[in-house]
Amino acid sequence: MDKIIITGGNRLQGTVTVSGAKNAALPILISSILTDGWNTFYNVPDLWDIRTITRLMTDLGVCFKQDAGTLKADASGLKNFEAPYDLVRKMRASVLVLGPLLARLKRARVSLPGGCAIGARPINLHIKGLQQMGASITLDHGYVEAKADQLKGSDIYLDVVTVTGTENLMMAAVLAKGVTVLRNAAREPEIIALADALKQMGARIEGAGSPVITITGVKKLKPISYTIIPDRIETGTFMVAAALTQGDIEIVNCEPSHLEASIHKLRQAGVTLKKGKTSLRVKGPKHIQSVDVKTLPYPGFPTDMQAQFMVLMSTAKGLSVIDETIFENRFIHVSELQRMGADITISGNSAVVRGVSQLSGAPVMATDLRASASLILAGLAAEGTTEVSRVYHLDRGYERIEEKLSALGASIERVKA
Ligand code: EPU
Repeated sequence: MDKIIITGGNRLQGTVTVSGAKNAALPILISSILTDGWNTFYNVPDLWDIRTITRLMTDLGVCFKQDAGTLKADASGLKNFEAPYDLVRKMRASVLVLGPLLARLKRARVSLPGGCAIGARPINLHIKGLQQMGASITLDHGYVEAKADQLKGSDIYLDVVTVTGTENLMMAAVLAKGVTVLRNAAREPEIIALADALKQMGARIEGAGSPVITITGVKKLKPISYTIIPDRIETGTFMVAAALTQGDIEIVNCEPSHLEASIHKLRQAGVTLKKGKTSLRVKGPKHIQSVDVKTLPYPGFPTDMQAQFMVLMSTAKGLSVIDETIFENRFIHVSELQRMGADITISGNSAVVRGVSQLSGAPVMATDLRASASLILAGLAAEGTTEVSRVYHLDRGYERIEEKLSALGASIERVKA
């Protein structure tokens, strides 16, 4: 297995370009299931999660053509309605095929994803919403079996704000008969991006980006050309990298308006940030100030930035409290950060972080995608060498991160297994 080796202490300087957003690309690629003919998607990041979804969709009968960051998808040969355990367990977002398969083939059989490192992560709200739209659903041998001759519009209240739940139901509703209202819907930029793509296909959707989304079903959708939005979590990760290393970097091809909560918190911590239209200039201060943070659904502070922010707080002056309210087990990076000298105490879903003057490099192990990013960041700030193993987690969601950081002046290399 590959390892990433970092020697800390270098100040990051220069310009870095953000890739397309993984969590926007996944549902948008999947939405091509709803059309016949070639869709063209631009700015698709080269990531393991994207490879996993194209593999799964190829098994379903979708054809792909790839040329660098451009991916073409044609679902006119869609024939199979099963997403097997082997692929769903690799990537939970595979469950997003449930709604579109049901809308298109009137049938879907999708493995239940099960828990993962960061929490139980049930899909009960996806299932409940589809049942309300008239689908008959059985759970059998670890699979969700869904059938519906014609999905019908329904008024659906989501008990918890769920990103992929909102996306799954939105994709099921676009071809349903009548009007579907999703209440307490997720408001993430990735939801708006998916709605934009679906609208371009001919779907009738209002309110995406607000807690109430109204979808009026149409008979047929057409293929599109669509550019994937920039990855806000990758952008945020580079913001923290600059902050941690007293760096001065320009992040380009990003969307600053998607990062307001992170920008506010970094400014409170003493980081200088200048927003351009599609760029951000970030300068790290000599001393980081402690700030409290609570993760919340968008537009609140993203859970996907919690681990990275915790590293920053580990080097801050004072004490910070970090509350994780989205996932029940998303502090798995803490024990690895403690091995690097961080002073963190966990109590329930809160972490109390007392800043230390210097982290120290150590061999550490990545346990999930954002935890991996946090260990890389800790390595950039630490004294000495940090060796991050199990970097396949990182490769699921960060495109060439070691090349990008190295171009900014970090001492970082990948050692191939
Ligand atoms: N939940 C339920 N029932 C459901 C669905 C969700 O109880 O039917 C709960 C979850 O257990 C969790 C909360 O609702 O406590 C929110 O989960 P959500 O469904 O929003 O998460 P997700 O859709 O599975 C997406 C991102 C995650 C990101 C979360 C939260 C994608 C592909 N994944 O997951 O991204 O952390 O939203 O913002 O969009 C990552 O990129 O590293 C990542 C984990």
